[in-house]
Amino acid sequence: MKKNWMKLSLDLIMAVGLFSLFSVSAVGLAFHEVVGLALFGATILHLAFNWKWIVSFTRRLFSKNIPFKTRLGYVLNVLLLISFVIIIGSGITMSKFVFAGVFEEVDTFKTAHYFFSAFALLLIGIHTGLHWAFIKAMFGKVVKIPKLALKPVMAVMLMVIMVSGTWGLMNSSFIAWIASPVVALPGHESGWPEGTEGRGGGRGRDSESLVEDVDHTETEEGIRGYRGGLGASFDLTKAIEVVAEYGSIMILIASITAGSEILIRQRKQKKAVI
Ligand code: HEM
Ligand code: HEM
Repeated sequence: MKKNWMKLSLDLIMAVGLFSLFSVSAVGLAFHEVVGLALFGATILHLAFNWKWIVSFTRRLFSKNIPFKTRLGYVLNVLLLISFVIIIGSGITMSKFVFAGVFEEVDTFKTAHYFFSAFALLLIGIHTGLHWAFIKAMFGKVVKIPKLALKPVMAVMLMVIMVSGTWGLMNSSFIAWIASPVVALPGHESGWPEGTEGRGGGRGRDSESLVEDVDHTETEEGIRGYRGGLGASFDLTKAIEVVAEYGSIMILIASITAGSEILIRQRKQKKAVI
């Protein structure tokens, strides 16, 4: 039981850490790079916690008896690992803090960094949704909702998730990044209008206010031409905002996944009764 709480705590830390990485200007580039690298370390710990599952299902991967959900989960986990490796690898080549000056900047890696970050968020949404039963069981031990209040509480929660998820999608750069392989990002170099790189908090990439908001002193002194990133330091309000934006998107995706699974299960049960 203790191990389950440790797992859940690590999951929560990883999730919040991940959301905070979606805006360099909110947390500063130094924080972004260090936490990004730490997140990779946390993923290895996460995999170590689930090592038995990995070994057991890798051995039986081609067996016909494996349920579809488990197979889907396995494919998702592999895609997640590949995405994380690409994000960290491309991040290292762009690094202007931990690995400053070690690599030449390559535009393709930048686009890959943005695309796979958004893609990983989508995958983690589905991944978390598939573990809904585990999360519900754990929280059920702490928060006891009376049976009568269950339906209204669920309805309110669903409303909040839908509204906040839509708000997150509208305000963030998630859609632009995930669509970047087919719809090119506007601007030059990294795909951002000059002076707005590192503004992934996403309050509209090409809005005028955003361009005005950029600190032009940093632009001139920017490390290897980087604007608005390393110069920016950790801003708690902006960090909370970015965690809320990307967190609400992830929770929306997780809820859609968990909801679909429940519906599919109910249909199967109905068919079995008929
Ligand atoms: C923010 C990131 C992530 C969150 C919130 C998350 C969440 C979860 C949760 C809730 C579980 C079930 C409980 C547990 O064992 O902790 C789980 C299991 C698992 N996760 Fe993650 N995870 C994340 C990232 C990853 C990544 C990047 C990978 C792969 C490289 C991964 C691979 C796995 C595996 C193999 C399992 C056990 C098998 C399974 O049931 O799928 N997770 N994860
Ligand atoms: C899972 C880990 C990571 C995720 C999800 C992630 C995600 C992102 C995102 C979404 C941006 C754009 C942010 C914005 O526009 O404000 C960004 C920018 C950046 N990231 Fe990461 N990152 C991760 C890890 C890293 C690591 C480990 C490094 C370096 C060691 C790194 C270096 C950078 C740099 C240098 C930029 C600015 C690029 C530019 O000039 O526009 N990232 N990252």
